[in-house]
Amino acid sequence: MSNQPREQWGSRVGFLFAAIGSAIGLGNIWRFPGEAYNNGGGAFLLPYLIALLTAGLPLLILEYTVGRRYRKSPPAAFRQLTKPAQAIGWWQVFICFVIASYYAVIVAWAVRYTFFSVDRAWGEDPAGFFAGDFLQSSDPGAGISSYVGGVFWPLLFVWAVVLVILGLGVRKGIEKANIFFIPLLVLFFVVLVVRAVTLDGAAKGLDALFTPDWGALTDGSVWVAAYGQIFFSLSIGFGIMVTYASYLRRKSDLTGSALVAGFANSSFEILAGIGVFATLGFMAQASGVGVNEVAESGVGLAFIAFPTVISQMPLGGLFGVLFFLSLAIAGLTSLVSIVEVVISSVRDRTGMRRGPAVAIVGGLVAVASLAVFPTNAGLNILDACDHFINQYGIVLAALAFLIVVGWVLRKLKPLQANADATSAVRLGLWWRICLGVVTPLVLAWMMVDSLRQEFSENYGGMPTSFLIWSGWGIAGGALILGVLVALIPWRNGPEPEDPVDEEVAEPAVESGKEER
Ligand code: ALA
Repeated sequence: MSNQPREQWGSRVGFLFAAIGSAIGLGNIWRFPGEAYNNGGGAFLLPYLIALLTAGLPLLILEYTVGRRYRKSPPAAFRQLTKPAQAIGWWQVFICFVIASYYAVIVAWAVRYTFFSVDRAWGEDPAGFFAGDFLQSSDPGAGISSYVGGVFWPLLFVWAVVLVILGLGVRKGIEKANIFFIPLLVLFFVVLVVRAVTLDGAAKGLDALFTPDWGALTDGSVWVAAYGQIFFSLSIGFGIMVTYASYLRRKSDLTGSALVAGFANSSFEILAGIGVFATLGFMAQASGVGVNEVAESGVGLAFIAFPTVISQMPLGGLFGVLFFLSLAIAGLTSLVSIVEVVISSVRDRTGMRRGPAVAIVGGLVAVASLAVFPTNAGLNILDACDHFINQYGIVLAALAFLIVVGWVLRKLKPLQANADATSAVRLGLWWRICLGVVTPLVLAWMMVDSLRQEFSENYGGMPTSFLIWSGWGIAGGALILGVLVALIPWRNGPEPEDPVDEEVAEPAVESGKEER
């Protein structure tokens, strides 16, 4: 256990920038537009908004409250609620380990593509260039047989930047980096979106995105997609917000901050949807095809569809540099937050100082990432890991946490009082209903629905033998390791306590007074 004083954010604004920097990431720019388009277009905004209000914001507030109350990263904070709950915390640590290791690679691709944009290095065939020349990707199941230097070096650079930021600490590293990068990101993105909506055919793209298919609302998988998007996008269920909130001052406003972070994230997401679809509309018009023929999501959107557009548009090189830089910055600030969960948890457990923890623990994540992903099998492993760790990691860990806090320990009421004691916006009964009933039911339904799909067809048409280790194995391994680490006796650790109720007695403060 650490006896060093806990690091703190320099200001409330600094914390907000860090929380927003964590939320705005690859999920906003490349995941949201595709999810919205594939799940009812304009009609998707309804389940999305409901997911934000019933699950996203309430859970964000719960994570802030637990982190701020116990001032520890997830394993130690959850252990304070009840000893066995630390297993959920360690599970999240391993989830973050896995996500960080592949998330960094996408940031590294974006860094490389920033340079490729200058002379459109992908030539006439962006798809062939990406999978072939650049990633040297092989069929799923072929195994790791070659190493790809063109991915290794940018990845090494990304890890060096991340570890330096983390090494500088909460205030001088994470907070300063976010205060610098987030306004820059917004500036770049506004320029991109303005350019995109003024392209020929932009209206066609926006029509495709926003024309509502109301029938989609009766499809359960559309709702599952909306909840999944909110979880990934708001960075909830990773343990990130518990960790970041553990660096808050005792009396900082929680609900107001959650509302600001949540709405900032969603605004950026919708802006990204507009920018991406306006650009795809241009591409469809230029090639004389429908938007449905060019609409892509995820990897295909950023690294195949966008390069194609960049080659076609006037001043495409500049547009490409801005797009890939935005992607790299958005990803970098999220990556920092994901790795910080691992570092902070090990520090809380062992008492290690930040420098050695960043070098050893952060270094270990970097080594795993550098060993596996810049290889011929990297793309397929990434795809499988991403799918399984999201579905059976983040979402399942959040469900377990809600069941423990809401149903087993029945702590939602004291936690609500704890948040209310220092927040400008008071929580009502709706918060407990959302977290105690609505969200667990929706998450449980999501689990059943995705398992049903998993067993009806192999994810991405990949071979079962490959999915067993790269999907099920990695997601299941995170859970098993989490439980095993939780079983290691915790000498000299604080006894689990239930001080949530005491905290209620603290006088409410006017929000904003204590923190600049
Ligand atoms: N919230 C981060 C993202 O959207 C993880 O990418």
